[in-house]
Amino acid sequence: MKLSIHNVTFSYNGTPVLENVTENIPAGSFVAIVGPNGSGKSTLLRCIDGILKPRMGSVLLEDRDVQDFDRPHKARKFGYVPQEAGHTPPSTVFDTVLMGRKPYIGWQVKQQDKTITSRIIRQLHLEEIALRDVNKLSGGQRQRVFIARALAQQPEVLLLDEPTANLDLRHQLEVLQLLQSVSQKQITTLVAIHDLNLAAQYCSHFIMLREGKIFSSGGREILTRENIESLYDIRVNIFQADDKIFFVPVDKK
Ligand SMILES: Nc1ncnc2c1ncn2[C@@H]1O[C@H](COP(=O)(O)OP(=O)(O)O)[C@@H](O)[C@H]1O
Ligand SMILES: [Mg+2]
Repeated sequence: MKLSIHNVTFSYNGTPVLENVTENIPAGSFVAIVGPNGSGKSTLLRCIDGILKPRMGSVLLEDRDVQDFDRPHKARKFGYVPQEAGHTPPSTVFDTVLMGRKPYIGWQVKQQDKTITSRIIRQLHLEEIALRDVNKLSGGQRQRVFIARALAQQPEVLLLDEPTANLDLRHQLEVLQLLQSVSQKQITTLVAIHDLNLAAQYCSHFIMLREGKIFSSGGREILTRENIESLYDIRVNIFQADDKIFFVPVDKK
């Protein structure tokens, strides 16, 4: 689904956080939103999801303002995984993932909902913990459960706030590989992410935010030393190996 962010401006209690953010995101892109702490990444994701209403501007999905979507419609279009999933009522991993099917379920769960839930549980290697209480899992396990729940929603746009922050190296790779394959199935996927090396490997499109404004956006070509040094106010070394690019921060400016 084509997503366009049009002149989005947002303030918390009068303090501007996003200013005139405009970006067209083609269907099926895998977008990394990067930038320093406090630059507005999470706020931008919440504006795209429609949880926050921009003070000015709009977010359009196929030319319709997301603020005009009713709840069930929005839940079929957008999946959102916040950075810190809070405590949830006691529930098994299976039932939590099944909850992602809610926008499709009438008065009873259908076999298809259970089949989709089981498939996603297997895809994210959650079988072994499928009957455990989500509140008794490690941060990384919980994070994968909430990603699974958003996938079960079968949204057209998937928004994830620092989805790899709590994960070990193997699961970081697995989750990004999975999201990349999800985006290749035409689900437009946006992640706020700090790890530029992972983003560079998997994402197709980049939005660099600095102090609530777009500092640069585009494909891999914008991942230059100049951009990264000035975005974070640091010095970096760049290495290239097997077609991959790696940034190593070396010093503050
Ligand atoms: N609920 C809130 N109320 C007031 N200010 C907020 C709130 N959430 C975030 N902010 C402020 O908005 C700015 C951007 O925050 P955020 O979008 O979380 O940035 P990022 O995700 O890039 O770290 C920060 O200055 C932050 O302190
Ligand atoms: Mg954030």
